[in-house]
This record gives sequence, C-alpha cells and structure tokens, in this order.
Amino acid sequence: MAECEYGTELMNPAEASGSIGTATEKARPPMFESRLREGLSGEARLFRDEPMARRTTWRVGGPADWLVEPAQEADLAWVVRVCREERVPLLVLGRGSNLLVTDAGFRGVVVALAHPLWQRVEVVGDRIRSGAGARLKAVACVARDAGLSGLEFLEGIPGSVGGALRMNAGAMGSCTFDVVELVRFMTMDGQVEERSAREMGARYRGCDGLRERIALGAVFRGRPAAREEIQERMRQYSERRWATQPAAPSAGCVFKNPEGLAAGRLLDELGCKGWREGGARVSEEHANFIVTEPGATASDVLRLMARLRSHVQVERGVNLEPEVQIVGEGAEAWVCWKGD
Ligand code: EPU
Repeated sequence: MAECEYGTELMNPAEASGSIGTATEKARPPMFESRLREGLSGEARLFRDEPMARRTTWRVGGPADWLVEPAQEADLAWVVRVCREERVPLLVLGRGSNLLVTDAGFRGVVVALAHPLWQRVEVVGDRIRSGAGARLKAVACVARDAGLSGLEFLEGIPGSVGGALRMNAGAMGSCTFDVVELVRFMTMDGQVEERSAREMGARYRGCDGLRERIALGAVFRGRPAAREEIQERMRQYSERRWATQPAAPSAGCVFKNPEGLAAGRLLDELGCKGWREGGARVSEEHANFIVTEPGATASDVLRLMARLRSHVQVERGVNLEPEVQIVGEGAEAWVCWKGD
C-alpha cells in the first residue's frame, strides 16, 4: 500500500476471499438486525446502510447493509456467530485503503475495528504489542519513540495492523511479516488464538492463515537503535514516497507485481498514464495507482482496471492480478480475474 498521509485505510477482510455466508441480493433475514443488536455491548455501534465511500480511501462504493464497530472481543465473536448462523456475509474492514466496494454495495455486515480498544499500541521491552485497528503509522512512531528500529517502513503504509497482516502489506523492500513475531486472531467459531508468525503462511501480498480468520492484533519485534537514526530513515522513506506516489485519493498499487516485473513500469512503458474512465484516472506519478476525483464511481475504477489489464495482456502477454480487494454485489465478475 501507499502511505498514511494519503488518507485512510487498508483492510482485513475475513470475507474478501470468501464470505462465511451465502446470502445474495438483499440479504436481510427477518429479525436479523434485532438479533444482531441484542448481543452487542452498550459501547458497540451499529449503523444501517452505511456508505462505504466514506470508509474507503478511493472514496467510491455503495452502502453496506450494516456496519458494526465492536467495543470488545465478545462483540466481535457475537457478530461472527450471528452472521454464520443466519448465513449473512461478513466483511472485516481495516482502514479501507486497499478495498473497492462495488456501487451496488455490500449485502451483509461490515465490521470496523474503530473502537479505541483495537487501536492500542504498547511497548514491552524490544517488542510492540498492537491491536488490529491501530494505524501502521502509529506503530512506526511508537517504535521510533521507544528506540526500536526495523519498523520504519510501516510509516508509509496507509493501513491498519489487521489489514497489513492479512495482505502482508509492504513498502521499501520490507513487508509486514518481516517484523511480526506473533499474531492474535479470531476463528469463525469466535475462538481467540495466538500463533507465531511462522505458522501464519505469509507470502507476497497475502497470508493464508488469515483468509478465514480475523486478525485481532500482533506483536512486532524491533532492534534497539538511536532514535535520530530511526527518524532519519523514516524521513528518507517519506521523501521517496512523496516523490514517486500520488497524493490524490487512491488505494495504493492496484495490481500485484508479476514475478520479476514491476506492474507500474509495465503500465508506464505501455503509455497508460493519464488513461481515464469517468472520474478514475491512471496517476501521472505512478502508473500502478488509480486516483479518483469527486464524483467517481466504483464502476469507473473497475472499467479502468479492466482496460489496463487487457492492454497488458494483449501487448505483453502478462496477466496482471489485482492487489486491491474487490467486494460487494456484482463483484464476482471482477474477482474471477484472480484465478484466470
Ligand atoms: N516505475 C516506472 N513508472 C511508473 C512507476 C514505477 O517506470 O509509473 C518503475 C520505477 O522507476 C522503479 C520500478 O518501476 O524502477 C518499481 O517502482 P517502485 O519503486 O515505485 O515500486 P513498485 O514495485 O511499483 C512497490 C509496492 C508498493 C510500495 C513500493 C515502494 C507492489 C505492488 N507495490 O511498488 O506498494 O509502496 O514498492 O516500496 O508490491 C501497494 O502495495 O499498494 C504499494 C503501493
């Protein structure tokens, strides 16, 4: 992903790669909402028809039927249980910086770990324990203040810890799992477990161990170093990022880098910078970024992605796989890109 300053979010979708329900269209089982509400603590928040454009960095996308902000693990376990029993799809949102929700919206429940409980970041010796809802930038800054090096690259990723774990987000030649020691997660039975990073099946821009689980937090490991040295490295990363990536609303890199190639360079060489569909445009700064203007729609972004992808296929015979997660009603047509 790109960087904190651009805006919000990265995601941690327990469902992006497969929901835990089969409901389609208007998935609103009778009494579902009252049942959902009755098991939540007083501090949890429940929203109806929440526009996802407000909760994603691309600022496009239709409404989620419901959005829940759990205030404790028991709230989350309740949501998981009710969705499973009522066969309603569930999506766990991080900061929405790597997520495209279709214009029709998401038929089901979106969980946002926005309550302060999930944002805690604590230093314990040369380790940092963080909740899944914390911003990566916050983790990087706490590490710097504690004189712990190695986490500087996180400063430039605009996501949450949960989303970064699920995506194994990276920047500046490092990725999240390079510095993670332990992951705390919830299973789809509502059980909470902790496992060593080694056991999580992390790979380039993915983590198999979190496909069907919800990240709750992580323990990061740093190396003691001088604060000034850490600060200087963060400054250099930030400078490099601002020089090469756009500040306009985006979702970071749109496509994964194919083996041995940089998708951005490929798209640049093929003259795609400035290509446009409605309010979505290929960034002039970095060809693997699509930026949006006010009034853009998710369909604009999807149409542009489709054009780019087929152009690269025809011209170079390379299949670009989306790095961003595509969810919502009608997403199947686009998600199938992944496997073909
Ligand atoms: N390039 C071009 N034209 C462009 C863009 C890039 O020629 O329009 C060239 C660059 O000059 C460079 C090469 O392509 O030689 C690679 O570009 P860059 O250094 O920007 O890195 P990247 O591979 O495009 C990756 C991550 C980014 C991360 C940067 C910086 C992926 C898909 N992307 O980009 O992550 O911020 O490195 O560390 O792995 C993201 O995951 O969303 C993301 C933006």
